[in-house]
Amino acid sequence: MRKIYSLLMIVILLMIGCNLRNLKEEYTSEDKGIVVGFSQMENNSPWRIAETNSIRSEAEKRGIELIFTDAQANVEKQISDVQYLIEQKVDYIILAPKLYDELGEALQLSKDAGIPVILLDRKAKGEAGKDYLTLIASDFIWQSQQAGKLLAEATSGRANIVELTGTVGSSVAIERSKGFKDIIDQYEEMTVIASQSADFTRVDAKKVMGSIIRERGKEITAVYAHNDEMAIGAIIALKGAGINPGKDIIIVSIDGERDALKAIIANDLYATIECNPFMGAITFDVIERHLAGEKIEPFIIIKDRIFTKQNAIEHVDSAF
Ligand code: AHR
Repeated sequence: MRKIYSLLMIVILLMIGCNLRNLKEEYTSEDKGIVVGFSQMENNSPWRIAETNSIRSEAEKRGIELIFTDAQANVEKQISDVQYLIEQKVDYIILAPKLYDELGEALQLSKDAGIPVILLDRKAKGEAGKDYLTLIASDFIWQSQQAGKLLAEATSGRANIVELTGTVGSSVAIERSKGFKDIIDQYEEMTVIASQSADFTRVDAKKVMGSIIRERGKEITAVYAHNDEMAIGAIIALKGAGINPGKDIIIVSIDGERDALKAIIANDLYATIECNPFMGAITFDVIERHLAGEKIEPFIIIKDRIFTKQNAIEHVDSAF
């Protein structure tokens, strides 16, 4: 009798254990079998590739199915990519929008379909909490203010600056111009003598910088590039024209990619402000919190660092 009683107790305890495990796992996205769509604007630069890989590896780590689309820098394709994700009946859409105004349409389509959108790294036209769930991004105004301060420091507040801007119509290009201007406007002898878009790419920056050098070569004393790829393109153009970057012309930029840290070590680049692309963990944390019924804040700011000659060596190997 005692034996039967003990056996019964063991069975009951095992059943309670199993139920507790089930209860604990009930709230994980893996158990809910959710599917997340990720619409990436393009995937052709170290920064974009690092961001894509961060989202992909985090989804894999958490056992979440991810449907990935690459708009290849084409805004119409990005809108139809979002339509495709909606048709796939994904539970969430992560959207890295190329342009501010145009991608408002993608937000509307997702809203109509009742699918929450997490804006990643850039803004699109709409209101947080209404048209999209949240924005996870760096503070572009802060980044560009730091770039302005560092350039002022390096040039003692005197500079004829070439500004290589990012993609026209992107929130990031607008804000990186604004924050920089906020700072240099405080200096009488800091002037932007040319401002042109090179679409965040090395290839375009080399061409754009080349033609600015031909027009205003002797006047230029500084370059502010909205990202590292464009700074590297400018460095190549300057060297090609026999100008010594880092000595004749001071350059600052934003991103913190490995090639930029190498350029700092080689004295070609004065500084770069980090724009951290590793947003995978924070993005899926937001999804898990939302699934658990938590209220999500409208803007989740990624903290960035500043890389100069003081710390570039320390960070170069871990950079993307
Ligand atoms: O939106 C983030 C910016 O977009 C990064 O600085 C840049 O490299 C990318 O194209």
